[in-house]
Amino acid sequence: MVNARTSTVTLHLVSSLDGIIAKKDNSVSWLDSSGDVYEKGVSDDTAKEVVKAIDCFVLGSRTYEHALQLGWPYGDTPTVVVTNRELPSTRKSIEFYSGDLKRLVDEILAPRYGNIWLVGGAMLCQSFLRLGLVDEISLVIVPILLGEGLRLFDNSAIESRWHLKNVVAYKTGLVELLYRSQ
Ligand SMILES: NC(=O)c1ccc[n+]([C@@H]2O[C@H](COP(=O)([O-])OP(=O)(O)OC[C@H]3O[C@@H](n4cnc5c(N)ncnc54)[C@H](OP(=O)(O)O)[C@@H]3O)[C@@H](O)[C@H]2O)c1
Repeated sequence: MVNARTSTVTLHLVSSLDGIIAKKDNSVSWLDSSGDVYEKGVSDDTAKEVVKAIDCFVLGSRTYEHALQLGWPYGDTPTVVVTNRELPSTRKSIEFYSGDLKRLVDEILAPRYGNIWLVGGAMLCQSFLRLGLVDEISLVIVPILLGEGLRLFDNSAIESRWHLKNVVAYKTGLVELLYRSQ
């Protein structure tokens, strides 16, 4: 179902072929290019333009803590971290939120931001999906099987159909699938 809001919430995640978004040891080298080239693919510059158009990031506290360890990838773009804990603030661009997620989207984010990106992790994305708060899903598939780890989707999703809006294949072998809620 399409929302009445003018803003768009895009769930954006990078997944292995077998639907895993994080390894048990939290290592991230599986995300690096293997050097293999898909000749018909486009270069990564296309993705950089998309990132520039993001007004706000939303992330769960575990993703936040991992992002701090890895080196903050969200620049000065406003970022909301969902947590029930008191976490230390590390940057001016970060706000913490606890409470109802529908209120977060409808009353706090939508009046301020048009292009809202929900970037993980699995737990927060699953909550957003269950509540029908996701307008678009942008899934980047890495050509690797991981076998075990944190699964993007558990068994809690509500059956819903999605319209394929775009497909981009990159030279690195990554494929980005963009779906819109029907
Ligand atoms: N491959 C990718 O694209 C990608 C993207 C993002 C993250 N990741 C990886 O995924 C892992 C983290 O994912 P995760 O699923 O374990 O955790 P997460 O979703 O990042 O964070 C979970 C935490 O967020 C808060 N939270 C989530 N839902 C909530 C709700 N409905 N209401 C209130 N608070 C809520 C809680 O924080 P408190 O416990 O603080 O209350 C909860 O413990 C990391 O390894 C990260 O690197 C991968």
